Amino acid sequence: MTAHESNPEFPKGFLWGAATSAYQIEGSPLADGAGPSNWHRFAHTPGLVSGGDNGDVACDHYNRFLEDVALMRGLSFNAYRFSISWSRVLPEGRGRVNEKGLDFYRRLVDALLAAGIEPFATLFHWDLPAALEDQGGWLNRDIAGWFADYARVLIRALPGVRTWATLNEPWVVTDGGYLNGGLAPGHRNLFEAPIAAHNLLRAHAAAVGACRAEDGRRVGLVVNLEPKYAASGSAADLAATARADAYMNRQFLDPVFLGRAPEELSGMFGEAWPRFPPADYDLIRTPIDFLGINYYTRAVVKDDPQALPTRAARVRQGGSLHTEMDWEVYAPGLLDTLTWVKSRYGDIPLYVTENGAAFPDPPEAGPDGIADPLRVAYLRDHLRATREAIARGVDVRGYFAWSLLDNFEWSHGFSKRFGIVHVDFATQRRTPKASARFFADVIRSAGAVLDGTA
Ligand code: BGC
Repeated sequence: MTAHESNPEFPKGFLWGAATSAYQIEGSPLADGAGPSNWHRFAHTPGLVSGGDNGDVACDHYNRFLEDVALMRGLSFNAYRFSISWSRVLPEGRGRVNEKGLDFYRRLVDALLAAGIEPFATLFHWDLPAALEDQGGWLNRDIAGWFADYARVLIRALPGVRTWATLNEPWVVTDGGYLNGGLAPGHRNLFEAPIAAHNLLRAHAAAVGACRAEDGRRVGLVVNLEPKYAASGSAADLAATARADAYMNRQFLDPVFLGRAPEELSGMFGEAWPRFPPADYDLIRTPIDFLGINYYTRAVVKDDPQALPTRAARVRQGGSLHTEMDWEVYAPGLLDTLTWVKSRYGDIPLYVTENGAAFPDPPEAGPDGIADPLRVAYLRDHLRATREAIARGVDVRGYFAWSLLDNFEWSHGFSKRFGIVHVDFATQRRTPKASARFFADVIRSAGAVLDGTA
C-alpha cells in the first residue's frame, strides 16, 4: 500500500510540488542566443523595480537546475510547476527556433523525469518576447497565432511534458501591465486593458487547439482567484462586490466556460469596452482539461466611486494577520474559491497551482535551518482547506506551493521572500526553511501530519 492509498482524503495520484516561473528564477536571460523579454527590458528601466533589481542572475537556476531538481527530490515532490521563457526558445517571438534555449528545457525535463517528478509546464508566465512587444504585444490580434505557433514548438519538443498550462494569471497581465502600469509593459490605459484581456483569451484558446492536435497531452489555464466578500449588506456594497468579482474572477472564466463576458464589464469600462466579434467567444470556449487556481488572499469590498474600473475598494481587515505584501491571511477563502468554481463552472479537474506567502524570515540560518513559523501555519491551514474541498466533492488533483525558492518578486525585486527554500543571493546557497520540511512531511504522510499540528 502506498502512502497515498493509506489516506483517502488526498486522492491517489495527487500532485505535490512547488511552482516557479522562468524570469523569476532562471537568470542568464540572454544566454546561448536567447532574445530579450519585455521583463528584461522593464527591469532594466531605471525606477521601475524596487532596489534597481533585475532577473539577470536571480536564482541562477539556468546553471543550477540539477541542484534544484535534487532539492525537490529530497523534499519528496512528485511534481514541479515551472514556466518556459518564450524568448529563450524563439528569440524574435516567432519564426527561428533557438535550439540551445530549447535544450535547456529538454535537460530540465529529462532531469525531472529521472527524479520521478512530473513536469507541469506553463507556456506564458508574463515574460513576453520584446520583439513581440514592439509589434503591440497583447494588443495585437495576431498574437493568438504567434502564441499557438510557440505552443506547437514546445509541445513537440518536450514530449515528456504531459500537462501544459497556457497562461499564468491573465488578469494580472492586464491589470498590472496595461491598466496600473506596475508590471511589464507598464502601460496605464483603460482602453487597452480589455483588448489585452480579450487577446490573452484568444491566444489561450488557440494554444489549446495546438496542444489538442498532439496525442496524450492535457492542457489548461491558470488563473488567480480572490473571493470577494461584501463589507456590509448595503445595496451599494453588494453591487461593488459583484463588480470586483466580475473584473477579477469572472472576466476570464466566464468566457472560457460559458462563452460570454460577465455583463458587469461593459458597464464598468463604459466607452473603453470594445465590441468583440461574437465568433471569438466560440473559439475562447474551446474545452480545457483542467483549471489551475492561484490563491493568496481574499478581499472584503466596499463601494468606492473613485476606484476605476470597478468602483469598488478593498477594506483592510485590521484584526487579521497580513503578509509582507499586505495580503490578508485567510485560508477559508481557498475553500470558498474551490467550491465556487465547481458550483459555477462544473466538475472540472482543479489544481491549486500557487499558494504561499512572503513573510520576514530571519536573515541567518539557525542550527535547524530557517525558522518560518508563519509560513508553516499558512501552508498547514491552506492544505487543510484544500483537503476540506476534496471532502466536499471538489475534484482537486494537486497542490503547488509558491514558491520553491526565494526569487525575483517582479516590481518588488528581491525584497519579498516567498520561498519554502531560502536563497542567499550572494552565494546562491539554498537552505530549506522549516516550511519546506513541514511540506515534505505532509507529502510523505499523504496529509496525515496535517491532523497532528496545532
Ligand atoms: C504570480 C507569481 C508571483 C506571486 C506572488 C502570482 O501572482 O503568479 O509570479 O510571484 O503571485 O506575488
